[in-house]
Amino acid sequence: MTIPTGPIFAANWKMNLGPDGTRSFLESFKNRYSPHDDRTVVFFPPAISISAFQATAGERDDLEVGVQDVHEEAEGAHTGSVSAAMAAEAGVGWGLAGHSERRREFGDDDDRVARKLVRLLDAGLRPLLCLGETLGEREEDRLYEVLSRQIGGALSGLDAESRRAILYAYEPVWAIGTGLTAEPADATEAHGILRKRIAHLTDEPHAREVPILYGGSVKPDNIEALLDADGVDGVLVGGASLDPSSWAAICNASAGSD
Ligand code: PGA
Repeated sequence: MTIPTGPIFAANWKMNLGPDGTRSFLESFKNRYSPHDDRTVVFFPPAISISAFQATAGERDDLEVGVQDVHEEAEGAHTGSVSAAMAAEAGVGWGLAGHSERRREFGDDDDRVARKLVRLLDAGLRPLLCLGETLGEREEDRLYEVLSRQIGGALSGLDAESRRAILYAYEPVWAIGTGLTAEPADATEAHGILRKRIAHLTDEPHAREVPILYGGSVKPDNIEALLDADGVDGVLVGGASLDPSSWAAICNASAGSD
């Protein structure tokens, strides 16, 4: 899998926008954002809306699509779940793993996240691995320890080549959906820690290049500062990606220098 170059703008719609909402969002968004070849734009709609997304995106193949979650097993009696192979069959290219809401609400621990990464990679999907500390962990100065544990656990079952296929999103839990945003310097620090751990788990050249997105209350008015921060290669956006005009304002931002 080739690593995308240029910033990545990823929309995580969570449990918002069914098929009708998806169609009207995209009709509006397509008029506000024209294809740019210097960046990647990817949407993570609810699974039930993926086919409406693809039908409405139509010829706009610059608008990529991913699945918010897959089950850690390949198939079977897991009511309500979607497998990575089914998501691939449905034509998506990406999959989230390790989002803090999955960790908190559904018990996705490091071991389960590791198994989901294996499924995503086996199905040929590009994993976007989410990591981040809670406010309590930050206040106890445990940023390094938490990020190291999460990334080490998630990548533990993977060989060197598979590890190189993963992209990352640093999302401090205290900044998600709260209106609190990490300062660009905080993002740079956390991304630096992740690159150190990635170098240890893969190699230095890969760690320097691999995209690490920032997520947590990204908005049109803070996108430029975040993209300009050292080590930030894109954003993963929840709330502000639900409105076509604010998401278009974010995706149209001028690209940062790194
Ligand atoms: P937010 O969510 O932009 O609403 O803070 C980000 C995320 O959870 O990915």
